[in-house]
Amino acid sequence: MNKPAIPSAVQIGAPSYVKNQKLIQWVQEIATLTEPEQVHWCDGSITEYDSLCELLVKAGSLKKLNPAKRKNSYLAISDPMDVARVEDRTFICSQNKDDAGPTNNWVDPKEMRTTLNPLFQGCMRGRTMYVVPFSMGPLGSPIAHIGVELSDSPYVAINMRIMTRMGKGVIELLGEHGEFVHCVHSVGKPLAHGEKDVVWPNNPSKYIVHYPETREIWSFGSGYGGNALLGKKCFALRIASTMGREQGWLAEHMLILGVTSPAGKKYHVAAAFPSACGKTNFSMMIPPKGFEGWKVTTVGDDIAWIKPRKDPVTGQTRLYAINPESGYFGVAPGTNRATNANCVDSLNQDVIFTNVALTDDGDVWWEGLTETPPSHLIDWQGKDWTPADGKAGRLAAHPNARFTMAATNNPAVDPNWDNPEGVPLDAFIFGGRRSTTVPLVTEARNWVEGVYMAATMGSETTAAITGKVGVVRRDPFAMIAFAGYNMSDYFQHWLNIGKKLESEGANLPKIYLVNWFRKDENGKFIWPGFGENMRVLSWILGRAENTAGAQETPVGHSPGHADLNWNGLSLSAEQFNKSIAVQADDWKAELDLHQELFDKLAHRLPKELIETRAKFQRRFGS
Ligand code: GTP
Ligand code: SPV
Ligand code: MN
Repeated sequence: MNKPAIPSAVQIGAPSYVKNQKLIQWVQEIATLTEPEQVHWCDGSITEYDSLCELLVKAGSLKKLNPAKRKNSYLAISDPMDVARVEDRTFICSQNKDDAGPTNNWVDPKEMRTTLNPLFQGCMRGRTMYVVPFSMGPLGSPIAHIGVELSDSPYVAINMRIMTRMGKGVIELLGEHGEFVHCVHSVGKPLAHGEKDVVWPNNPSKYIVHYPETREIWSFGSGYGGNALLGKKCFALRIASTMGREQGWLAEHMLILGVTSPAGKKYHVAAAFPSACGKTNFSMMIPPKGFEGWKVTTVGDDIAWIKPRKDPVTGQTRLYAINPESGYFGVAPGTNRATNANCVDSLNQDVIFTNVALTDDGDVWWEGLTETPPSHLIDWQGKDWTPADGKAGRLAAHPNARFTMAATNNPAVDPNWDNPEGVPLDAFIFGGRRSTTVPLVTEARNWVEGVYMAATMGSETTAAITGKVGVVRRDPFAMIAFAGYNMSDYFQHWLNIGKKLESEGANLPKIYLVNWFRKDENGKFIWPGFGENMRVLSWILGRAENTAGAQETPVGHSPGHADLNWNGLSLSAEQFNKSIAVQADDWKAELDLHQELFDKLAHRLPKELIETRAKFQRRFGS
């Protein structure tokens, strides 16, 4: 790359409301390193959002959609080389390799800084550096944490405005001495003098780097999703999980939902499913026919921060969860009125779509939105597309195409979604995408067995990450890509929290394993899923109330056909039994896979988990 001569020191022009010297110094330091043409301090206003969108439209990076179809909404199309999180380029650079553990890519922090420094040198030339102050969690809440992302991508700035509480208020809250997580992001494509920019700048060489001890994030070369919106996976999961471990709380890849029974009793459930395995769908679920009077509301769709606290009324300790985000960055394909009507209704206005297809009348489309596709589209790569292309297997939208929308767009948003106190949890659910072996729902016999179930969870990979799709891999707690420290220590942390709370007489949520994705001999999903998952959810709530029956299986407690509410759905007992079956042969093979994971994690693996596996083996008679 032909770089122009080094410009004289970049003027960072901090606005007068910035009082935090550490912030000013750091912005100056990063500006000196990366040499942007100018620095823009984001105030988070709607005027700023609109003008950044306009700038992106002028540059050809955003297309404004037809306001009669999607008010105030835009479409971004990425480089085909930059469409999802890059797990193989994601690094946890703790001082000691053991603290990152065998499931994370580790590089010595000194060595990584030596690698990154030349990459970041002058990497923002010809661009604007945006200073993006953000709060994960409600501004000023005792459980919220602040970050500042320095990014050369205006697309990142507008997405961060939706996904986090972003802007001037955060800087004011920081005051003179406030602490914040330092996040540096560059698309890694400096522009030479007069060089025309591309529509989606990025760099073939990508690095998503975390220094947990100094709480820093350095991201280079990608503009997409979790690679670039650093408040999300990098901060709210990888860095926050290390904070939670030190401070006695949990940062989890979980949706949080509220559910109100016809009698008016409100429950809250947190559920961890791997990427593109149904969190957004479950969190916005509409109860099906036969569940009149039930209501599901969304607290969060992707991330939960969970802390123990005394219930102000009963005095009993409970786990309270908050959603640190303020928007949803959700999977578009498969979303339609039948699968997620609340989501469809959320997407009418103020949305940023990425990598979906464009219709001739300036609207968007993706696979599954309507049964019959429009007769002509511009696909996510900007090429003409007709239904014949679809029949030939060419997708109009990328399978990891996403929408960015504010939580407040969701008609089912929970009244407590941004309550700084959080909501008390009644159950934990874990669920992988498994076409075989794993039953529709199982209740763990106790906390340790629940931790074991979550720790050994397997799931078929999806388009949310680069690489092969549909391969079963172990995805402990749906956190394989997000635990910022040693996975064995993470299991221990969960066991410790359970033990501590139990000893304090806390009201601990029960733990469930679910699988919406089991297939029959013809490769068809056995369970209808989506809104019908309410049948499983209401069984789980019934268990909390001691009103729902169950049968013991070697892996836990599952409902028999008669234990579920079948109002409004005809699924034969035979089909249901297929969905819930626990087959010894399958499970013996499954336990071998658990052992493979345990071999990998042997170094600090809690002995309770080894003992639990041995118990399961005995139950299967091996
Ligand atoms: P991330 O945002 O990547 O963390 O994913 P997520 O877990 O929020 O995924 P999301 O809810 O967007 O799920 C997307 C995929 O799961 C789509 O392909 C859906 O069709 C599919 N899906 C969700 N719920 C169900 C279900 O109950 N049954 C079946 N068969 N598929 C489902
Ligand atoms: C996931 O991959 O789990 C996501 C999307 O939620 S991203 O923000 O890209 O990580
Ligand atoms: Mn996610």
